[in-house]
Amino acid sequence: MVLEIKNLSKKYSREKYGLQNYSLLLEPGILGLLGPNGAGKSTLLKMIATVSTPTEGNIQLDGEDIVGHPDVMRAQLGYLPQDFGVYPNLNAYEFLNYMAAMKGVGGGNLKKRIELLLEGLNLIENAKRPIGTYSGGMKQRVGIAQALLNDPKVILFDEPTVGLDPQERVRFRNLISELSDDAIVILSSHIVSDIDTIADKVAIMKEGKLLAHDDLHSIIDVVKGKIAVTSMNKEALADFKEKYIVIDTVRKKGEIEVRYVDVDASSEEEVTLEDAYLYLTESN
Ligand SMILES: Nc1ncnc2c1ncn2[C@@H]1O[C@H](COP(=O)(O)OP(=O)(O)OP(=O)(O)O)[C@@H](O)[C@H]1O
Ligand SMILES: [Mg+2]
Repeated sequence: MVLEIKNLSKKYSREKYGLQNYSLLLEPGILGLLGPNGAGKSTLLKMIATVSTPTEGNIQLDGEDIVGHPDVMRAQLGYLPQDFGVYPNLNAYEFLNYMAAMKGVGGGNLKKRIELLLEGLNLIENAKRPIGTYSGGMKQRVGIAQALLNDPKVILFDEPTVGLDPQERVRFRNLISELSDDAIVILSSHIVSDIDTIADKVAIMKEGKLLAHDDLHSIIDVVKGKIAVTSMNKEALADFKEKYIVIDTVRKKGEIEVRYVDVDASSEEEVTLEDAYLYLTESN
């Protein structure tokens, strides 16, 4: 399966682009979509999910135009929108059955599938309680479950780990790894640590544009040798920030240890996706 996004733009008003001339070619595997607030992550995912139409450009799934033929995408799609709302009076069983009916998912396996999802997302014990009484993280997991009802081959999760505690993040990662063998999975986040442990590839975006798209390791390699660490006092830090991209600061014995980008450093410092993400988004 191939998902091809070609020269895609979304213009919200005369001056305002949510996404601009964006191209991306995806095959099965997990793509981590990273970008700061307002980068256009949700705008992109909405258009792939066919809930929003592009101003320009096109999106093809295995060569079929999904803007003109949204049903082609919808038949394969599992989508968790960023602002997913649930019906507070339904319990998880009722809600998932309702969503299955909306998606036209039925058959003898439905009950089993719902139970597997509730099990996998650690919701089974509370499945008979109204969703309105759930915590934020539990509601989020119900949203993840509904996206997976139809055994989708294109899975779009917009900030799926928001509100999940560390244990649930791990469960979510395992679930996604199991699902992703033959599916195209896109996970958006602005939290780098949610992406770097599961993504095969990473796309970094800012202000509606794609800054980089590559294998996780190739993206990280971009900052190899360019990260340095030094110590200084609080007063010096303000000036330092004017000159360098500061990645991180840690207070240590009265001084501040500063991790920063120096393109000429030729350092041996081990580098991370966080370094690459900040370097690319701050220097572009
Ligand atoms: N319906 C809309 N009308 C006008 N502008 C919009 C609309 N939706 C999004 N935008 C603008 O488009 C840009 C991209 O927004 P988008 O929600 O896609 O970003 P994002 O990367 O998902 O951000 P976040 O991390 O905050 O979720 C932002 O500048 C936003 O203000
Ligand atoms: Mg968003």
